Amino acid sequence: MNKKEKQDKLEKLIGQVAKCERCGLHSTRTNTVPGEGNINSKLMFIGEAPGSNEDKQGRPFVGRAGSVLDELLMSIQLKREDVYICNILKCRPPENRNPLNDEISACVGSLDIQIKIIDPNVIATLGNFATMCILKKFDLEPQKISAVSGKVFHIKTPAGPRIIIPLFHPAVVTYNASKMGVLKKDFQVIKSQI
Ligand code: URA
Repeated sequence: MNKKEKQDKLEKLIGQVAKCERCGLHSTRTNTVPGEGNINSKLMFIGEAPGSNEDKQGRPFVGRAGSVLDELLMSIQLKREDVYICNILKCRPPENRNPLNDEISACVGSLDIQIKIIDPNVIATLGNFATMCILKKFDLEPQKISAVSGKVFHIKTPAGPRIIIPLFHPAVVTYNASKMGVLKKDFQVIKSQI
């Protein structure tokens, strides 16, 4: 798919997400947060769901977790504009509660389309929730992030072989600074695979 085709398809998707009422979260959201970044990137980050800052701005990872993510990207000489960033859910769950199964089912179609359009070689999952979801989606055993962070999972897709790398959620650093070291080490794994 060329860049123009990718752009058109993503714009269409963003328009559909903006009007989406497939689950109850549409009634509490301020903005949808479809995702953003370099649509030709071979590296895609998938987080859990927008928080309050993201809901206000309509952009993923713009709060404190986002600053940590920026720092981690910088540690492997990348900038936000070099990668594509999105979430499993495109709307904020009230009080940042965990996503519900019916919300995931309602939203996962948009993520499938994003993955198909961007077609990254490496999908890096951010946090336990996104990791369990994505491992399951690609028919791998869902495992806790503490068991799989920094591991490289090889998957086969109709588009060819691809890689999943689970990571701790950058927000953990905001309440446990020592996790920055683990995350930086795991980002080196990303670097070695792209
Ligand atoms: N946490 C997430 O998982 N996603 C965001 O966009 C922000 C915080």
